[in-house]
Amino acid sequence: LELLDRLAAERKTRQDILLRITPGVDPHTHQYITTGTLDSKFGFPLAAGQAEKAVKQAMSTANLNLLGLHFHLGSLIFETEPYELAIELVLRFAREMKEKFSFQLSELSVGGGFAVQYTLDSKVPAIADYAQAITDQLNSLISLLELAHPRFIIEPGRAIVGQAGVALYTVGAIKEIPGVRKYICIDGGMSDNIRPALYGARYEALVANKALQAEESLVTIAGKLCESGDLLITDVNLAPVCPGDIIAMPVCGAYSVPMSSNYNVLPRPAIVLTDNGKSRLTRRRESYQDLMRLD
Ligand SMILES: Cc1ncc(COP(=O)(O)O)c(C=O)c1O
Repeated sequence: LELLDRLAAERKTRQDILLRITPGVDPHTHQYITTGTLDSKFGFPLAAGQAEKAVKQAMSTANLNLLGLHFHLGSLIFETEPYELAIELVLRFAREMKEKFSFQLSELSVGGGFAVQYTLDSKVPAIADYAQAITDQLNSLISLLELAHPRFIIEPGRAIVGQAGVALYTVGAIKEIPGVRKYICIDGGMSDNIRPALYGARYEALVANKALQAEESLVTIAGKLCESGDLLITDVNLAPVCPGDIIAMPVCGAYSVPMSSNYNVLPRPAIVLTDNGKSRLTRRRESYQDLMRLD
C-alpha cells in the first residue's frame, strides 16, 4: 500500500483500488490453485485483523481511493458453497468496516474459479448455478446487513477460454512393457502443458485421425521432456495408435500456452485459430533461432 501510494503520488493521481481479502475459505480444489485460505501468499487475511488494518491504512492514504473489496478463492472450483461462504464473510467484514471507519463498499469482486469439464467423469456446475448461488447470497446479505448494492465484478478465466482450445500432438515412439504399461510418446509435454506434472491435472484424449474407431487399449501419453513425471495422461483408452497419428487433447484453452516454457530448450508450438472450416495461424511455432536470440 505504501508503494502504491508513492507511485500514485509520483504520477499526481489518486488511484482507485480494491483490497484483496483472504476470507479463509477452502474451495476444495488442488492445493496449488487454492488462494483464499488463511495460509496463502495472496491477500490480506480476515483472521488476525490484517484485513482490517489494510482497510484502515488504505482509507487514510492520501493517494489511494479504496473503492471496495476483492477475493479470489482459487481455480477449478466445483462447488458453489465456497462462494456463498466467502461472500458472507466478506460482506460481514464490509459492514464492520462501515461501522468502524465509515467504509463504503462501492465495488465487490468475487474473483474467478468457475470450473470446466476436463474429464468425462467430472460433474461441473452450470454457469447459471454459480450465478444463482452468488447473486442470491449477495442480495440476501446486502439487505440483511443494510449495505448499498456494490458494483459487482466476476473474473472468470478458465470458464471462458478453457474449452476453446484443443492441443494436437503427433505420436512418435510407442513403448509397451508387457503386463505393465503402454507408453505413447508425443512431440510435446510439460513444456506446453505443465498442469498434469505440476498438480496432477487430468484430461481426456482421442486419436484425432481415428476419431470414429473404437477405443481398444489403455495407454499412457508421455511427453518428450527428460522427466519421468512428464506424462500428459496416465491411463486413457484410445483407438489403436501408430507413430504419426495425431492425439487431440480437448480443454487446453486455459493455462496451457500462458504457462508454457522452453523446458529442455524446446520450442513452443504454434497456435491456429479455426472456425467453420477456416483457419488462421495466430502464433507461429518457435524456431531454434528464436531460442538462441538472447545468446
Ligand atoms: C485474481 C484472479 N482472478 C481470476 C483468475 C481466473 O481464475 P479462473 O481461470 O479459475 O476463473 C485468476 C487466476 O489465476 C486470478 O489470479
